[in-house]
Amino acid sequence: MRIVVTGGAGFIGSNFVRLVLAEHPGDKVVVLDKLTYAGNLDNLRDVSGDPRYSFVKGDICDPEAVDEVAAGADAIVNFAAETHVDRSISGPEDFIRTDVIGTHVLLDAVRARGVARFLQISTDEVYGDIAEGASVETDVLRPSSPYSASKASGELLVLAYRRTYGTPIVMTRSSNNYGPWQYPEKIVPLFVTNALDRQALPIYGDGRNVRDWIYVDDNCRALDLVLREGADGEIYNVGGGNEVANLDLTRGILAELGLGEELVRYVTDRPGHDRRYALDCAKVRALGWEPRVSFAEGLARTVAWYGEHREWWEKIKSGEWRSYYERQYHGLTT
Ligand code: NAD
Ligand code: DAU
Repeated sequence: MRIVVTGGAGFIGSNFVRLVLAEHPGDKVVVLDKLTYAGNLDNLRDVSGDPRYSFVKGDICDPEAVDEVAAGADAIVNFAAETHVDRSISGPEDFIRTDVIGTHVLLDAVRARGVARFLQISTDEVYGDIAEGASVETDVLRPSSPYSASKASGELLVLAYRRTYGTPIVMTRSSNNYGPWQYPEKIVPLFVTNALDRQALPIYGDGRNVRDWIYVDDNCRALDLVLREGADGEIYNVGGGNEVANLDLTRGILAELGLGEELVRYVTDRPGHDRRYALDCAKVRALGWEPRVSFAEGLARTVAWYGEHREWWEKIKSGEWRSYYERQYHGLTT
């Protein structure tokens, strides 16, 4: 199978490319990525010599670039997106452009080129927060942030193309991923790398917001399964089943490093901050998937990885990241 992976130079996309090349010797992977601040070819360096892998720099909003890679593709997996909620609050335009218009451009190419499968990578954030119980795939969408509204808009286009044109799609909504190669703006890599440097850990609000954490390899195995065996037109929730409050997550990271709570700082809450997400994953489990990495093991592996890969994140933190951090956290250091 020749698979086009958009956004393959980002966090989950690069882990997915690695998994496909390792698990499916007959497959070829073409990554299409704009290399925004979050895209990083270092994430794919270890597969760059594989003759089954190739990289194209391009924007999913550019119909010509998309058409070029779609020609001859058996499947397109769309990871490409603006993904950080805080950045969507300070500037929603790029989110609407990539997450909505980019999805539309891809769908048109799937139609025009007769691509047999389109997997849209979406998020549990489209459901909005849920006080108790767990979201199921048929729930109404109630996105809270410009990020989740853009992802929900992309989803609606995917579903409309399926209904109107019979476009062959599947879609996943996954919970919070963590693991290697995650840009250090999201809470896990930000707090791990800050703690390694004995810098402050800025907790929004009361630290009691809950996320369901999934180790990135577990998510990638689910995505690969849905790509190959998911029922046409269906949506699958993918969650790790690890509901953890941010303060407990922070304590877990600090404990891995043998640190106390001296670095913790409570800062102004995120506007519109969703309180809790939880997913019912019966549908993807019925395909034969289950998570393999416990939260304790995943967190230990993740903290160790960032400790062993300082050269990767120190390079990032000396570039665009620094001005973002100063804007977002008003120069908070220790
Ligand atoms: P990321 O921010 O690490 O990477 C995004 C990638 O997309 C980058 O390589 C970037 O260069 C690329 N990109 C951005 N705009 C582009 C454009 N216009 N054209 C081509 N490439 C472009 O993101 P991630 O955390 O790996 O998330 C990947 C996907 O998974 C996203 O669709 C996101 O909404 C979804 N998702 C993420 C999580 C999570 O916890 N990280 C959870 C659920 C769903
Ligand atoms: O739920 C899936 C989503 O998870 C994905 O769709 C998004 O792409 C991904 O970014 C992530 O969104 P979150 O907003 O949940 O992730 P983030 O790491 O930004 O925040 C996780 C929690 O930690 C959230 O409750 C806000 C809090 N937080 C975050 C940061 C960056 C803090 O308390 N302090 C921080 O500095």
